[in-house]
Amino acid sequence: MGFRDEHNFSGGPGALPATVLTQVRQAIEEVPDTGLSLLGLSHRSDWFAALLATAEARLRQLLGLDDAWAVLFLQGGATQQFSMVPMSFLRRTGPAADYIETGYWSAKSLPHASRCGPVRIAYSGRAEGFRALPEAATHGYNSDAAYLHYVSNETVEGLQFHHIPGHATVRRFCDMSSDFLSRPIDLSRFDLIYAHAQKNIGPAGVTVVLLRRDLLAQIPDDLPDFLDYRQHLAAASRLNTPPVFAIFVVERVLHWLQREVGGLTAMQDINARKAATLYAVIDEFPHFYRPHACTVDRSQMNVVLHLPCAEDDEAFLQACAQEGFVGLAGHRSLGGVRASLYNAMGLAATEDLADFMRHYARRRA
Ligand SMILES: Cc1ncc(COP(=O)(O)O)c(C=O)c1O
Repeated sequence: MGFRDEHNFSGGPGALPATVLTQVRQAIEEVPDTGLSLLGLSHRSDWFAALLATAEARLRQLLGLDDAWAVLFLQGGATQQFSMVPMSFLRRTGPAADYIETGYWSAKSLPHASRCGPVRIAYSGRAEGFRALPEAATHGYNSDAAYLHYVSNETVEGLQFHHIPGHATVRRFCDMSSDFLSRPIDLSRFDLIYAHAQKNIGPAGVTVVLLRRDLLAQIPDDLPDFLDYRQHLAAASRLNTPPVFAIFVVERVLHWLQREVGGLTAMQDINARKAATLYAVIDEFPHFYRPHACTVDRSQMNVVLHLPCAEDDEAFLQACAQEGFVGLAGHRSLGGVRASLYNAMGLAATEDLADFMRHYARRRA
C-alpha cells in the first residue's frame, strides 16, 4: 500500500486493506490454479461458482446468518435498492411504510418509495440541518407500518445510529452501505439489509442484500426479472454477467476480516479507537473544529466538521493534501471536511491525521 493509500480518508470508494490490494494485483496477473487473469475469468466457471459460495459462507460466518436468510450479490448500487425495496414490499392500497429521514441518503430514498405506495416520514431531522437522529423510543413509529426503512450511517452528515429504531412488530429494512461489517449486527431485529461494497467491503460494482426468505412470498409477480429478488436468488446471483472482479475483492476483504482482524467485534473495537482518536482532537479545539453531528449520534465511520469559515476549510484541506492526507473534502452538498474511517483505514494513519490536526489547530486557532 502506497503512502497515499494509507492516508486515503475518502468518503467512498474507500481505501482497501493492503494485503487485499496485493492479492488483487496478483490475481489480475493470474488467479492461482487457473492460469488466467481475474479479468478474463468466466462467471460460468466452476472457479467463480466456488468463489461466490465462499464469499457467502464467509458472510454467514461473520454475521452468524442462518438459513432463514438469503444472501444476494447484486448490481445497481444502493440506489437500485431504494427502488427494489418498495417495489417488492409497498402496495398502493396497503398501509404506509415508515421512513426515517436523517440525512442526504435517507432523503434520496424517499421519492423512490413514494412512487410505489404511501410513505410516512416517521422522523425528519431536516429542519435542524440533519444534525441529530431520533431518540431510542418507539413513539413516532407506526406499529402497523408496511415496514420501517432507515439508513444506519448517514455518510454525508456523519450521523450513526447507536440503537435500533422502530417497533418489534414491524419489518425493519436498513441501508447499511456505509457501516456494513464495521460492527456486529443483531440480526434478530432486521428483515432486510443492503449495503454497497465501496465503503467497507470492496470496490464499487456489487451490492450485498440480505433478506429473510419469508419475505419472498410478498413480492408481486409482475416485476421485471432484474428487479425481482426471487429471480436473482433462483439464479444464485448470476441472472446475467455479475461483477466478477468486485465479488473477488469482496471475498478477499471478508477473508481479511476473519483472519487478520479477527471478526466483527474486533473490527468494532478498532473502529471505536480510530473514531475516539479523531473526536478527541475536535473536542480539544471546539471553536476551530466544529463537528456537524451532535455528540451522541456521532458516526464512527465519517467524521464531519467545518472550520470557522469556508476559506479556513479550503486552507485546511490544502495543508492536509501537502502532508499526504487525501480524500478529506466534505460531500459536495455540505462542504467542510469529512474524514472517513472505514474498516481498512488503520489506527496508525488515523493517529497521524489527529496529530496533524492538533498541530494545525495550535498554529491557527
Ligand atoms: C448510505 C448510502 N446509501 C446509498 C448511497 C448510494 O449508493 P450507490 O452509489 O451505490 O447507489 C450512498 C452513497 O455513498 C450511501 O452512502
